[in-house]
Amino acid sequence: MALFDTHAHYDDPQFDPDREELLAALPENGVGLVVNPGCDIPTSRQAVALAERYPHVYAAVGYHPENCGPYVPEELDILRALARHPKVVAIGEIGLDYYWEENPPRDFQQQVFRSQLQLAQELDLPVIVHDREAHGDSLAIIREFPAVRGVFHCFSGSAEMARELVKLGWMVSFTGVLTYKNARKALEAAAAVPLERLMIETDSPYMAPVPNRGKRNDSRNVAFICEKLAEVKGISPEECARITWENGKRFFRIP
Ligand code: NI
Repeated sequence: MALFDTHAHYDDPQFDPDREELLAALPENGVGLVVNPGCDIPTSRQAVALAERYPHVYAAVGYHPENCGPYVPEELDILRALARHPKVVAIGEIGLDYYWEENPPRDFQQQVFRSQLQLAQELDLPVIVHDREAHGDSLAIIREFPAVRGVFHCFSGSAEMARELVKLGWMVSFTGVLTYKNARKALEAAAAVPLERLMIETDSPYMAPVPNRGKRNDSRNVAFICEKLAEVKGISPEECARITWENGKRFFRIP
């Protein structure tokens, strides 16, 4: 059984002590594919470098809403050049984050989000969306780009919003949050999404699932998320692994 961790940040300094060993050993630990999204220009470059180094690692490039403060329009050319790399499979992660007071102003986040959706449309790449406490605006902005498809990663919206995304042709992805005690909302959303629109991810090094909650997360823990999602959907973990693997490969167009 091979698992696809569709979202992990191995460029994070928390992996400095053991990044090489950890990434090299993922296939023998049951994780056959990983997508590493960038959060700004340096981490997007690092994501591409990791993807070049490991056959099972793919990259996404983009400006995360929390990190987009210094963004200048000329940087879209850098992202465009990076995105032409054959192992770059998406623009991400991009989106809106209204949770933190100190984040860049909302209208600026929206501007950077739109620019990157435009880039994704131009390059015919899917997008990885980060939406925290910004459900209404995130949905409204993606509707402005009907030609672009994407995934809402670490989905935190309602079941109703998940159904809306499915209607728009989008994917919905879940993290270790599914395994937490207060997961009712995420579990309801996961139940509302058809199997062929679901993906799983660790969001490493954050969001470690139970029983490793609070520790540094890595892709091996995606097995716990797969088990929980299988339980929600009433299928076996093997079936859930197979379906989310196929969904991820189809969505990111990985041969
Ligand atoms: Ni992330």
